[in-house]
Amino acid sequence: MVKVLAVLYRGGKAAVEEPRLLGALENKLGIADWLKSEGHEFIVTDDKEGPDSVFQKELPTADVLITTPFHPAYLTGDLIRNKAQNLKLAITAGVGSDHVDLNAANEKKITVAEVTGSNVVSVAEHVVMDILALVRNFVPAHEMIERGDWVVADIARNAFDLEGKVIGTLGCGRIGFRVLKRLVAFDPKELIYYDYAALPAAAEKEIGARRVEDLHEFLGQCDVITINAPLHEGTRGLVNKELLSHVKKGAWIVNTARGAICDRIAIKEALESGQINGYAGDVWDVQPAPKDHPWRTMKNPLGGGNGMTPHYSGTTLDAQKRYADGTKDILQRWLTGKEQEPANVIVINGEYATKAYGQRK
Ligand code: NAI
Repeated sequence: MVKVLAVLYRGGKAAVEEPRLLGALENKLGIADWLKSEGHEFIVTDDKEGPDSVFQKELPTADVLITTPFHPAYLTGDLIRNKAQNLKLAITAGVGSDHVDLNAANEKKITVAEVTGSNVVSVAEHVVMDILALVRNFVPAHEMIERGDWVVADIARNAFDLEGKVIGTLGCGRIGFRVLKRLVAFDPKELIYYDYAALPAAAEKEIGARRVEDLHEFLGQCDVITINAPLHEGTRGLVNKELLSHVKKGAWIVNTARGAICDRIAIKEALESGQINGYAGDVWDVQPAPKDHPWRTMKNPLGGGNGMTPHYSGTTLDAQKRYADGTKDILQRWLTGKEQEPANVIVINGEYATKAYGQRK
């Protein structure tokens, strides 16, 4: 018998009415009956902050921890070293395991696995939506209609076509590639990417993308920047005041990767000064975002340019089915001693199994 602890977001009425909200606390990823029938203990909570939280109280006796990036239980180095004495496996129900201190997990030989690919299309579609929302000035236009106003010029003065623009992705893995692929249909001037790993030549050719190896040069060329790299030591705080000074004036930035890749204040100031024309995404440097987080209300000088939402791009109902099934598969393999799908493994036996979390020796 093993003890599995899961930290999931509270779904409330929505989760009771919609059983396909598998990632919610109430629906327990659809694995509660199975785990019980196999004789395992399964604790599910949304209470994740501080030493008195259920998360921290149950952690010392858990063999397996399941978390999601949507309501991240931060498995810090301190918790790994001092509380998670029994922990052998940390599963991310979704994609993106930066809320786990991966270096500390390596020290303690804890395996970290995620359901790679499970929501990459969901995010790529969201990115395309965010890009269009910013470039076409959608949010202020809708707000105007709700207010009962009708002043076309106030919206049109900052609305553009995506056609003919240069669109670039910072990080061109599963999501970045899928974003560019979807944008081919909009006839951009050029699709470019910045990534220390080059795309396979056939993939570059398929979408007509060009790799730019210098980050400043890349930023200076993009009308639209979409961020699709994991959060790690090399990307935390990467988009700061200095870096933003290299961004083409009036560019739009969409970040659905991780909030902490962008500096909270630098983004707000760049938007307010007009250095960037818009910022959208669904990820925040801490989640849930505090009520006074500047990204909730920041605006460009014309009163628009904010396309922020709560973190949901990768948790559509379609995605939830895939990452719930994937979580069960990872768990089942671990319980029966079967090897994990290599693409799902982030760290194992004290080492990084993926090249996506930074360049290492
Ligand atoms: P992936 O591993 O397929 O691709 C990541 C790419 O980023 C790799 O090609 C890697 O070489 C590149 N990269 C890493 N560090 C870089 C750096 N410093 N500069 C430039 N490129 C760098 O991962 P995938 O599936 O595309 O996901 C990317 C990230 O998106 C996840 O790690 C996660 O943080 C985020 N995500 C967000 C979701 C949401 O709901 N908003 C859902 C799923 C993922």
